[in-house]
Amino acid sequence: MRPDYFSKNSECLWIENLELSEICEEVQTPFYIYSQASIEAAANSYLKNAGNTDLICYSVKANSNINLLKILVQLGMGFDVVSVGELKRALKAGATANKIVFSGVGKSAADLAFAAEQKIYSINIESHQEIELIKNLPNNPRISLRINPDMAANTHPYIETGKSDCKFGISETEALEIAKTYSPEEINLVGISAHIGSQITDVSLFLELAEKLKNLATHLKNLGHNIDHLDVGGGLAIDYQLEKQYDPAQLVKDLKSSITDYDLLMEPGRSIVAQSGAVVTSVITKKTNGQRDFLVVDVGMNDLMRPALYSARHAIEEIKNSDNASKEYEVVGPVCETADSFGAGHLLNADAGDQLIIYSTGAYGSSMGSNYNSRPKPAEILVSKDKYTVIRKAESFEDLIKLEEI
Ligand code: LLP
Repeated sequence: MRPDYFSKNSECLWIENLELSEICEEVQTPFYIYSQASIEAAANSYLKNAGNTDLICYSVKANSNINLLKILVQLGMGFDVVSVGELKRALKAGATANKIVFSGVGKSAADLAFAAEQKIYSINIESHQEIELIKNLPNNPRISLRINPDMAANTHPYIETGKSDCKFGISETEALEIAKTYSPEEINLVGISAHIGSQITDVSLFLELAEKLKNLATHLKNLGHNIDHLDVGGGLAIDYQLEKQYDPAQLVKDLKSSITDYDLLMEPGRSIVAQSGAVVTSVITKKTNGQRDFLVVDVGMNDLMRPALYSARHAIEEIKNSDNASKEYEVVGPVCETADSFGAGHLLNADAGDQLIIYSTGAYGSSMGSNYNSRPKPAEILVSKDKYTVIRKAESFEDLIKLEEI
């Protein structure tokens, strides 16, 4: 069964009253398309069982378009940022500073000073040095210690973040040492955070993490620190095969039953926007090399790098289904790299000029895009009710070179 937030109209993307084929007549491919209704449904599934003082902070890195952030501001979400750029984006979207958390393994003195000046909800500290920098800042910023819980998330090695040999966070021992070294008068230590990785399918890992955070919180409180929240990091996985649906509402409910003495903070990114977005691309040409049939499309690894970087497989369909028999193709982009492939074995029936849709690309798609091969970034459009708006124009050649001194 397809997840709730899909409808069969435009196959999987929830854009009830619009036909993708009509949009394709007006917007040049490739483009990213997002569904407001789908984003709201996914966000509400986290918010549903969260209490008034809990914070669900959308992880801006998943998709940082300000128009999408605005939708989430309206729903009362907070934001998880990992750079001053993301922090400024969240503020520009109208987020209140006291709903923003700032993580990141390499925050500079200037980054920390800027965040402290904004009076954000929490700066998540990832090293002893950061404490030294924070200590001397005005405003006595609220901080949380991001611990590295040494837990395996059983996900792709590039997106495991919570094992002891990963660069993120500090060990529980170091967290305790910091809490002993600095008094509550010196640092405003109010939380503990952790993030064990992304694309996590196993709910029990979040509950195991919650236990660790609670235990450590008890020690920090005994040392006089006024811990008010526990941050369990990013959200649940999504199913790139478009078959299963994970349940954020149940996860929040389970976490709330476990974490009773503190506010709960979560930083979901992928599960809010991945299924709410797709890439629409045109077939440039069809060719056969050796035994393999290729569809060469106009979107490349620079626009969507998940397949090249993590061997990720995204479902692909034609926009106009026809009755002719489908055939297996490797769908490849135009970039001069063999890694510029969206995978072999896609059952499709398409010719040059036809459009395809690449699903589940709302998260870590456009936000990880680049201009490799001097390719301008594609447009992004947002469907809200029965109309769509361009929320980022397609880049032009002039945009590409505008900062080069010639
Ligand atoms: N919080 C922190 C501190 C994080 O590092 C991340 C993701 C999140 C929250 C959000 O996690 P999510 O809910 O999205 O799982 N580019 C990769 C994913 C990298 C995730 C990095 N950190 C991909 O395309 O799969």
